[in-house]
Amino acid sequence: MPGFGPATARIMAVGEAPGEKEDLSGRPFVGAAGQILTGLLEGIGLSRDDIYISNTVKCRPPKNRDPEPAEVEACAAYLDAQIEIIRPDVILLLGRHAVARLLPGMPGISRIHGNREQRGDRLYVPLYHPAAALYNGSLMRTLEADMQRVRGYLDDAEAARARAVRDAGEDDAMAPVGGEQLDIL
Ligand code: URA
Repeated sequence: MPGFGPATARIMAVGEAPGEKEDLSGRPFVGAAGQILTGLLEGIGLSRDDIYISNTVKCRPPKNRDPEPAEVEACAAYLDAQIEIIRPDVILLLGRHAVARLLPGMPGISRIHGNREQRGDRLYVPLYHPAAALYNGSLMRTLEADMQRVRGYLDDAEAARARAVRDAGEDDAMAPVGGEQLDIL
């Protein structure tokens, strides 16, 4: 199952692997975990239509077991290519498999969830997998709180972008107007 979402998305979410519903529909996060993900995104003013959603592993592991390292490895080039094509500013890492794949060597998800990890121009945010909230209500509140932090990170990024545009405008205003200046000199 490939990813799904607009090629122009600035935000990407990466989960674990398709479940049965995803396998049948060919779209990521359309089952119960997907409903939670949609609600979490809407809770911070995002529509899932604006986000590119993908998975660490592209095929459904039998009986929904964890993906095996060889399966993650077999699918790595596909996820890498999706990231390369979409070039998102922010990647939400949904669960420990996505974290292990894209931020290898990081501490466990219980220590780093909700934190931001800047790598070059790209921001990564590890989050609990939405499916975890299906079985543990208190994780739902943790996910909601972490999403509020994501909202703050997005606002910071937007403010930085606006500053950069404004500064570039001021630089332009102060720059000599080529032809006339050269005539004077
Ligand atoms: N869980 C995932 O990790 N991915 C999906 O696409 C659906 C459920």
